[in-house]
Amino acid sequence: MDETLFECPKCGDLLDVRYDWSRAALPRRLEDFEQKWSKVGDPLAFSGVWQYHELLPFAAREHIITVGEGKTVFQQADRVAPYADMKPGRLFLQYEGMNPSGSFKDNGMTAAFTHAHMVGATRAVCASTGNTSASVALYSAVDGRIPAVVLVGSGKIAYGKLAQALDYGVRVLQVQGDFDTCMERVKQVAKQLRIYLMNSLNPFRLEGQKTIMFRIIEGLLWDVPDWVLVPGGNLGNSSAFGKAFHELQEIGLIRRVPRLAVIVADGADTLYRIVNQEKIAWDGDRVDRACVAAFYQQMDAENRRARTLASAIEINRPVNLTKCLRALHWTNGLVEKVTDQEILDAKAQIGAGGFGCEPASAATLAGLRKLRKAQVIGRDERVACVLTGHPLKDPNITVAYHTRSDEQLNETYGGYGVRGAPYANRPILVEDDLDKIVAAIQA
Ligand code: F0G
Repeated sequence: MDETLFECPKCGDLLDVRYDWSRAALPRRLEDFEQKWSKVGDPLAFSGVWQYHELLPFAAREHIITVGEGKTVFQQADRVAPYADMKPGRLFLQYEGMNPSGSFKDNGMTAAFTHAHMVGATRAVCASTGNTSASVALYSAVDGRIPAVVLVGSGKIAYGKLAQALDYGVRVLQVQGDFDTCMERVKQVAKQLRIYLMNSLNPFRLEGQKTIMFRIIEGLLWDVPDWVLVPGGNLGNSSAFGKAFHELQEIGLIRRVPRLAVIVADGADTLYRIVNQEKIAWDGDRVDRACVAAFYQQMDAENRRARTLASAIEINRPVNLTKCLRALHWTNGLVEKVTDQEILDAKAQIGAGGFGCEPASAATLAGLRKLRKAQVIGRDERVACVLTGHPLKDPNITVAYHTRSDEQLNETYGGYGVRGAPYANRPILVEDDLDKIVAAIQA
């Protein structure tokens, strides 16, 4: 607890947080957490993460750094449900883009900054496709005691996210390379300069991200859904969600574990290939790392690189692969992939449902539609999709989708397989003339 390790000194794989639950002050029933609702003056009861402190009991109260994260929206999305052929009342969208920095990352960052504070860290660093850097920058700026450096691939980051890192005043390094390059470098930097690492290979990040599942259960008035769908990138969320359900079952707070479906982009499908083609799985207490290494070797030999408009999940080598395979094992989970066209179409549908999300998040609804068509998920089942990022994170792609002709879209994004925008809400150009404006409104 008082060290800053991010990989096992013996085997080199990631570390995991394990609790001795017999020493924890656990509630008897999940309903007991409702007592926190009345304590709005207490920052720990107010935070959507720390309201579940008893389920991530690694830090004492006085160490906790919170900015009021996790007050997110859980929506019964009856207007979006028909797109995935779901019955009314069965599809739920969990809008994690409603966090202070506009993505789910804040759930993990409050926990990682808390641990950083506990070990006396004086600087923080991360590699990012954008949202991690925005979140690190926000916590660093609000807290003021842990200055941060963020590494982003040059030209690889959506504008909203870059804007945040710049605005919050942290040091931004645009590295000539992609996310995987940044991830490799940041591990070296963290070691060499002894800087605290904020990426999701930090096990404390995942502790905070477990609470997204607790809030879904809360949204269902303390019941579990049948399925949870989550986009897969570096696989921190899926790993954390599996751990959340596994632990709740272990301590007897739930009886049934939902099935996890991790949805990846067609152009960044490492996990899909590993699970569905290579058939590599968690086998009891480990993963065959030699098989994974051979897979990556082949990937490099073929020079296959991730490429998707969902830039948040444009990742070749997900650092949490092992933990994600464990989560799939615990939840009887599965992996599906969707094209960029499917992602953008689903994003427009989610937007029309009222709150919206960024492209990577929409992979969930696109995946649900596909899994419904294949009859893997039933119309009647209760499904929660985790929408990981805010719609304003990547406005360029949204405006392009709604404003450009199919021909223009194909020209710019044809390389990503995007041919048109069947759900475009096209703005109408009108002269400054009252009659014409009235006519356009009435049309
Ligand atoms: N959705 C969004 C909006 C993200 O920003 C990310 C990851 C993911 C999904 C994937 O989540 O890694 O837990 O599987 N973004 C990271 C970043 C990599 O640097 O911001 P994951």
